[in-house]
Amino acid sequence: MSIQGILFDLNGTFRKFNKLPAMSNLKTFTQSEIAPLSSLDEWEEDVLKRYPEQESSAKTKEKKAFRNYETPVRDTVREFYRLNHTYQTFDFVQSKRNEYLQFGKREMPVWDAFQFLNQLVDDSDPDTDLDQFQHLLQTSEAIRADGHPDWMVLVGLMHDMGKVLCLFGEPQWAVVGDTFPVGCAHSDKVVYPEFFDLNPDSKNPVFSSDLGLYKHNCGLRNVTMSWGHDEYVYQMMKESLPEPGLYMLRYHSFYAWHREGAYDYLVDDHDREMLKWVKLFNPYDLYSKNPEPPDWTRLKPYYEQLVNKYLPATIKF
Ligand SMILES: [Fe+2]
Ligand SMILES: [Fe+2]
Repeated sequence: MSIQGILFDLNGTFRKFNKLPAMSNLKTFTQSEIAPLSSLDEWEEDVLKRYPEQESSAKTKEKKAFRNYETPVRDTVREFYRLNHTYQTFDFVQSKRNEYLQFGKREMPVWDAFQFLNQLVDDSDPDTDLDQFQHLLQTSEAIRADGHPDWMVLVGLMHDMGKVLCLFGEPQWAVVGDTFPVGCAHSDKVVYPEFFDLNPDSKNPVFSSDLGLYKHNCGLRNVTMSWGHDEYVYQMMKESLPEPGLYMLRYHSFYAWHREGAYDYLVDDHDREMLKWVKLFNPYDLYSKNPEPPDWTRLKPYYEQLVNKYLPATIKF
């Protein structure tokens, strides 16, 4: 069946389309539904609470204090996941893929793209005013300091570029949040699994079955993931980086897989081989945040040559 074929609407009713609908035709979201979090960083702070760094060095203690782990789970995070799990349906994901994966919205030089991303300002975090670019640079510098290949350093630098989706008006829950397969049963290893009861796909006989649209061990490349910054940046970079780097980009928020071991029945041997790279990357993303901003003037020549080595002159969004 073609992509223009039969889709389900939010009520789980069969409909036929000649053309994929924009989600806005299905539901319009209020401002509080678009931005339940005070900033995207609130999601990442919650991930850190779930997966705290294991080592107990003085440096880690310092970082923990900085991140304030003691804060109770905020209602905003819960509401964020309620919205994410309710509205990330197979139909929703197809409409977003159709809209964004043509890359016809904007085109700009790579370094302008970082400035564009930095328009996402976090004015809520009491601990830090590090911007998006500084998080990217801290991640890439931590990877470089450990002597990993230069393409992995570039993964660190680019991994959250997909967050520009917010600047195109996407709701926070369609940009960040743990990702999960759509078109098959939801795993209870995904955070807040109880909210999947609100997802119309969970009432659909096909989408709610274990395999859903997929075959046993079909490989993640054949599985559609919930929509967000991971898939978007993977598609953006897929001609420019080696396979392990692409897995790091595409699945870095798929915690149910790389941290919890869920969905093993969908992965194949190639995914299992690539999992070690996804796991290698994750701590650099989670644990490299530091109140000290990197010295960009000193670092600039290295990153300019790195970007020139792997990336085209412009990035398409
Ligand atoms: Fe990310
Ligand atoms: Fe990140």
